[in-house]
Amino acid sequence: MLVSPSILTCDFAHLEQELQFVKQSGADMVHLDVMDGVFVPNLSFGPPVIERLRPCSDMFFDVHLMMEYPDRLIEAFAKAGADLINFHVESKAPIAETLDKIHALGKKAALTIKPKTPASAVFPYLDKVDMLLVMTVEPGFGGQSFMADMMPKLGELRAEINRRGLSVQLQVDGGIASKTAPIAAAAGADIAVVGSALFNASDAAALVAEIHTLRTNG
Ligand code: DX5
Ligand code: ZN
Repeated sequence: MLVSPSILTCDFAHLEQELQFVKQSGADMVHLDVMDGVFVPNLSFGPPVIERLRPCSDMFFDVHLMMEYPDRLIEAFAKAGADLINFHVESKAPIAETLDKIHALGKKAALTIKPKTPASAVFPYLDKVDMLLVMTVEPGFGGQSFMADMMPKLGELRAEINRRGLSVQLQVDGGIASKTAPIAAAAGADIAVVGSALFNASDAAALVAEIHTLRTNG
């Protein structure tokens, strides 16, 4: 499984060094959590911060928008340096148009589903996304417990993607650590977002290496 560290629980006073730490851990990309205080009960950062981080890192920027109206800032995130723009199917954005807009800007496009949303909510858009993110916590905060009961949903998405012969990647986000990553891989996840477990790890590189050994089922 690939690893996308979420910098949400890192030291925000030293973002450049934290990006270097992520790179040195051997991770495959960086997960940037954008929160608007409306869609989720928390605020983080937006395009100006990502724009300043862009020259500090050559890593792939996996941008997760937890926003009520992500469609209003797609150009701004693309210009700031996002490589993949991911927004929620529960947002108020026109879903298909927004996915097309992201692709027209030359970026990869993805959709996220919250725990209470069924897999079928993203079925109409499967041929328009490069990746799907299945939340394994309620979005808004790092450091929460992994919801193993999301695994059937992950399996359902994997089966539908395979049935249609698509190459959509599946990502999991929330509570991923040494113990939970194998459960997600077995259910069909390709990419693990790892936040607090990585920043609190005594050996981050060892954790990334361990997750890299996990084979995605499906
Ligand atoms: C939650 C965010 C996650 C989160 C991951 O709303 O989307 O990316 O910060 O953090 P951990 O790995 O600590 O659950
Ligand atoms: Zn996230």
